[in-house]
Amino acid sequence: MFFKIALLALYFLVGQVTMEDVGFKFNGFRSANLSLNGIAGITSSGLLQLTNATRQEVGQAFYPSPINFKNSNGSAFSFSTSFVFAIEPEYPDLSGHGIAFVLAPTRIIPGARGSQFFGLFNETNNDNSSNHVFAVELDTIQNNEFRDINFNHVGIDINGMTSNISKPAGYYANGNGVLHNLTLYSGKPMQVWVEYDGLAKKISVTLAPLDVNKPNTSLLSLLYDLSPILKQTMYVGFSSSTGSGLTSHYVLGWSFKVNGISQGLDLSRLPKVPRIGPKEKSKFLTIGLPTISLVLLLTAISGMAYYMRRKKKYAEEIEDWELEYGPHRFKYRDLYVATKGFREKELLGTGGFGRVFRGVLPTSKVQVAVKRVSHESRQGMREFVAEIASLGRLRHRNLVPLLGYCRRKAELLLVYEYMPNGSLDKFIYDQPKFPLNWDQRFRVIKGVASGLLYLHEEWEQVVVHRDVKASNVLVDGELNGRLGDFGLARLYDHGTDPQTTHVVGTLGYLAPEHSRCGRATPSTDVYAFGAFLLEVACGRRPIDNRAPTEDIILVDWVFSHWTSGEILQAVDPKLGNEYVKEEVELVLKLGLICSHSDADARPNMRQILLCLESAVALPELSSLRISGAGITFAHGEGFDEFIMSKPSSASNAFSYDSSVADSLLSGGR
Ligand SMILES: *[C@@H]1O[C@H](CO)[C@@H](O)[C@H](O)[C@H]1NC(C)=O
Ligand SMILES: *[C@@H]1O[C@H](CO)[C@@H](O)[C@H](O)[C@H]1NC(C)=O
Ligand SMILES: *[C@@H]1O[C@H](CO)[C@@H](O)[C@H](O)[C@H]1NC(C)=O
Ligand SMILES: *[C@@H]1O[C@H](CO)[C@@H](O)[C@H](O)[C@H]1NC(C)=O
Ligand SMILES: *[C@@H]1O[C@H](CO)[C@@H](O)[C@H](O)[C@H]1NC(C)=O
Ligand SMILES: *[C@@H]1O[C@H](CO)[C@@H](O)[C@H](O)[C@H]1NC(C)=O
Ligand SMILES: *[C@@H]1O[C@H](CO)[C@@H](O)[C@H](O)[C@H]1NC(C)=O
Ligand SMILES: *[C@@H]1O[C@H](CO)[C@@H](O)[C@H](O)[C@H]1NC(C)=O
Repeated sequence: MFFKIALLALYFLVGQVTMEDVGFKFNGFRSANLSLNGIAGITSSGLLQLTNATRQEVGQAFYPSPINFKNSNGSAFSFSTSFVFAIEPEYPDLSGHGIAFVLAPTRIIPGARGSQFFGLFNETNNDNSSNHVFAVELDTIQNNEFRDINFNHVGIDINGMTSNISKPAGYYANGNGVLHNLTLYSGKPMQVWVEYDGLAKKISVTLAPLDVNKPNTSLLSLLYDLSPILKQTMYVGFSSSTGSGLTSHYVLGWSFKVNGISQGLDLSRLPKVPRIGPKEKSKFLTIGLPTISLVLLLTAISGMAYYMRRKKKYAEEIEDWELEYGPHRFKYRDLYVATKGFREKELLGTGGFGRVFRGVLPTSKVQVAVKRVSHESRQGMREFVAEIASLGRLRHRNLVPLLGYCRRKAELLLVYEYMPNGSLDKFIYDQPKFPLNWDQRFRVIKGVASGLLYLHEEWEQVVVHRDVKASNVLVDGELNGRLGDFGLARLYDHGTDPQTTHVVGTLGYLAPEHSRCGRATPSTDVYAFGAFLLEVACGRRPIDNRAPTEDIILVDWVFSHWTSGEILQAVDPKLGNEYVKEEVELVLKLGLICSHSDADARPNMRQILLCLESAVALPELSSLRISGAGITFAHGEGFDEFIMSKPSSASNAFSYDSSVADSLLSGGR
């Protein structure tokens, strides 16, 4: 008796350990009392929404009470769980990172990062045995640093994001044992079972679509004793993170049991996953006292900080190694004066990497555009500055000259020559003041192509631009197109910035392999150039949320006009009939070819420029068996293959060999 009381007291001290084996089941979470972190929430229909289409965020949900995972001699109990999840990216080729089922010692994992770390680890404690974290990841981005096998896999992670075992998502059908692939980020609900056999020390993970019973053969199985990994009590739940892609991660139902088999979920009673349509109006925000007090607080803080700031106003960073780059280094004070203190009035635009201000340098009176890029990491700064200095030597009439840089704490400023006419998008979208006519557009296109060719092939190093788009093309006094903003992306190559994913660029211009694997190549620039060609010829953005749903994606829209034999229907109505039919057709078709989801099938910039200069003929699109392109194409679902007439032209500029032609759009990935 005394012993029992002592034991009870002990358990009480350890932290309210329930002595029975915990089990629970949620068919939807409307009445569930989960502990939520980050942007996780429970919708009115009872969905557990871990992330809600917001970039660079983490969402977590844990069962609120600690669960006893070990017996008195310290060996881990068996447990089993099943849950139904759905991952719905706004655009199929740009999803967030995925969902992990997690056992962790605490409900909030201190110091953990989102993005590729799923809110579980960070770059210093990843793979450290003091983490005591067990996770099963449903991972939809390939991170080479964790040796991820692809962008659609299931893995068992012990104390770190490098999986101990992983397989492409799929399941073995009962009966014939055939492996069927599954796409985790398809938006379709799927069920997962995770089981640990404490006697056999075996972990198994099984996956199946909702209409399939639990397969007898698991997808993953790993012999591993979890006893040293699990603490006496652990929290159990889910963690999810988003990167550059807008993605909603959902859990629809969840059942869990220690020392037993978790109860089956009632699939028919699970909440439904909303279909992502055009952007919803946000109608939350109850403005009131909280906002006002926040404003007051901020005012007070900024008042106090005023004197401090004054002192630090012109502080910049210079290290010895920078002295050799003297001519390329600008004084912060000069840039501050030039831009009138970075006044909003001088703001020229906001790009993927930062804000750009107009300015006039105090002594030389040269007009400049100053780009402010925030950058926390000091790592790689030296290499980057060396590159800026060398990029400063890039000279081409279709590139905006980069004059130099200035470095401040956590900030980098790049100084470019100022282009008074602004960027090309202002001349083609919406109701431009001076819409460019076709000759002018075609000239800009050829100019940009020649600038890109120079970056890719004609300079001493290969420079990948990474953010080719109309708003990065500036128009000079003679209406030449000039590419701006180059070189910046390299900062993110060298200086690892763990806050962001590795994907840098703009939605709609990102090649599928780029957004999936984060690797930028000349070929990913060609993809973006394809989107650029289409936007210039059609006068529309690559992704136009105001268009009817089926027309949102420009490539698909142009493609549908092409398949119906009326590609010229896609031309910008603002041009009227004032254009050269052959040239417009060439640009549109070239745009489609460049938007090919298979990188190998895209032409290179030299071939493109030759085509534009009419030195060689465009290959007959029909001979390439093009069937759909771009963003949705690579998803590989619901596409008809268009097998067109036999190749008719011998003057095939790109000399595709048959294997390339076969792989062309033969179903995507
Ligand atoms: C997502 O949730 C966060 C926090 O709840 C909210 O601030 C944000 O507006 C939401 N975003 C969308 C797109 O619903
Ligand atoms: C929810 O769980 C927390 C943490 O265990 C507990 O404090 C709270 O009372 C619970 N609320 C309800 C309504 O069960
Ligand atoms: C620990 O307890 C389990 C049963 O709870 C038993 O199967 C196992 O053999 C024990 N191990 C040791 C080392 O005593
Ligand atoms: C990583 O997390 C640990 C705690 O889990 C924390 O001590 C450390 O500061 C974090 N590192 C970074 C770089 O945030
Ligand atoms: C693991 O983490 C512990 C505690 O945070 C730390 O003392 C130890 O040095 C880390 N080990 C490694 C290999 O980083
Ligand atoms: C497997 O997990 C253990 C944790 O105990 C870790 O030390 C090891 O590196 C992992 N193996 C692989 C291949 O990741
Ligand atoms: C399933 O996916 C794997 C790799 O992800 C691939 O090699 C295989 O061909 C696919 N199988 C089918 C039937 O699509
Ligand atoms: C697999 O499961 C099915 C039912 O889903 C069952 O009829 C069959 O016997 C099982 N096969 C094996 C080899 O266990």
